[in-house]
Amino acid sequence: MAKDNHAIENDYTPLAYDPQYILMVNRLKKYFPIKGGMISKTVGYVKAVDGVSFNLRRGTTMGLVGESGCGKTTLGRTVLRLSGGKSGGEVLFNGQEIYDLSAREMRAMRTKMQIIFQDPFSSLSPRLPVGEIIGEAVREHNLVPRNEFNDYIDRVMDNCGLQPFHKDRYPHEFSGGQRQRICIARALALNPEFVVCDEPVSALDVSIQAQIINLLRELQERYKLTYLFISHDLSVVEHISDSVGVMYLGSLVEYGTTDDIFARPLHPYTAALFSAIPIPDPDAKMKRIILRGSIPSPANPPLGCKFHTRCERCMEKCRYAAPDWIEVEPGHFCACHLYNDAAADARAEEAVSAARASGAVPEAETEVL
Ligand SMILES: Nc1ncnc2c1ncn2[C@@H]1O[C@H](COP(=O)(O)OP(=O)(O)OP(=O)(O)O)[C@@H](O)[C@H]1O
Ligand code: SF4
Ligand SMILES: [Mg+2]
Repeated sequence: MAKDNHAIENDYTPLAYDPQYILMVNRLKKYFPIKGGMISKTVGYVKAVDGVSFNLRRGTTMGLVGESGCGKTTLGRTVLRLSGGKSGGEVLFNGQEIYDLSAREMRAMRTKMQIIFQDPFSSLSPRLPVGEIIGEAVREHNLVPRNEFNDYIDRVMDNCGLQPFHKDRYPHEFSGGQRQRICIARALALNPEFVVCDEPVSALDVSIQAQIINLLRELQERYKLTYLFISHDLSVVEHISDSVGVMYLGSLVEYGTTDDIFARPLHPYTAALFSAIPIPDPDAKMKRIILRGSIPSPANPPLGCKFHTRCERCMEKCRYAAPDWIEVEPGHFCACHLYNDAAADARAEEAVSAARASGAVPEAETEVL
């Protein structure tokens, strides 16, 4: 029987709030409709975030890594409710499902959840002086009394390494690193608890990157901030993160503490990704795993394990059955049939039989290039 591509499954067990976590994400989905035909009907979906689950401890940093287009930005924006509606699952912020909030309640919640983008220039209005840029939302939300406003902005600028007497200057008068400091100051001025940092240093010179990373760490310490830190740069992620999530084609394939993930990557995709990190010791030997083929389209992900078309260790069941998300070691999660327990293996066998009975035809493995 042909699969109905237009119905979005929304299967999840609602979470019980655990106060140690500022953010609890449960089977979250964000699908973008693909329109086609004369009357612009939905003919499919780009499954940018496809059933992602993780819990983020208060005051910690979670790194999020994966190839370009795997859904990192969409995940960051969806947990902040910046991408319209979600397509499934839950996002609990301090125990509150943010998608249940009214527009007014969400507006108030916005101060608690902020985002810093990769390109500081395009996210700053060129027509406003930086004092206004930093203070605009503070004023809008009435966060400080009117007579304390100027002092408050000076203090925020100072905390972010900006000279308060520069507040009448415009963004183009600052360097790239200073502009990112302005973006950080703008986010911080709202006194947030949680900040999504989407590639915050990727557009900066290497010499400036460390300064901005150090600033983010100092601010985290001082204000007990929680970060979701998205980056291509695995060395930066290792440096700044307490935990790491590895994303592939809209799904998390592995999640654990930074130490566990870097010392013992479990998932074959993580192993391949991490094998490309340059090692400073010239005597150390590390086998680079070359990923075969290209990343499939999130509009038509492979059946079974989404990574099976590129995996060196692909087994027959991988081509038909999606692996379960299993806690392989305490706090170290992975979705791969190599780590199945007996129950997961039985579920996989059942899924293989059902898929075969339905006539499903999985993608062949990609030719070795
Ligand atoms: N508004 C949108 N409408 C349709 N598709 C979108 C939209 N935003 C993102 N996508 C698609 O969703 C997928 C995930 O994109 P996303 O930008 O989240 O990836 P990413 O991991 O952040 O990539 P990069 O590392 O290049 O920033 C991509 O296939 C992208 O084309
Ligand atoms: S489930 Fe199979 S194809 Fe997927 S990563 Fe594991 S071994 Fe590779
Ligand atoms: Mg991105």
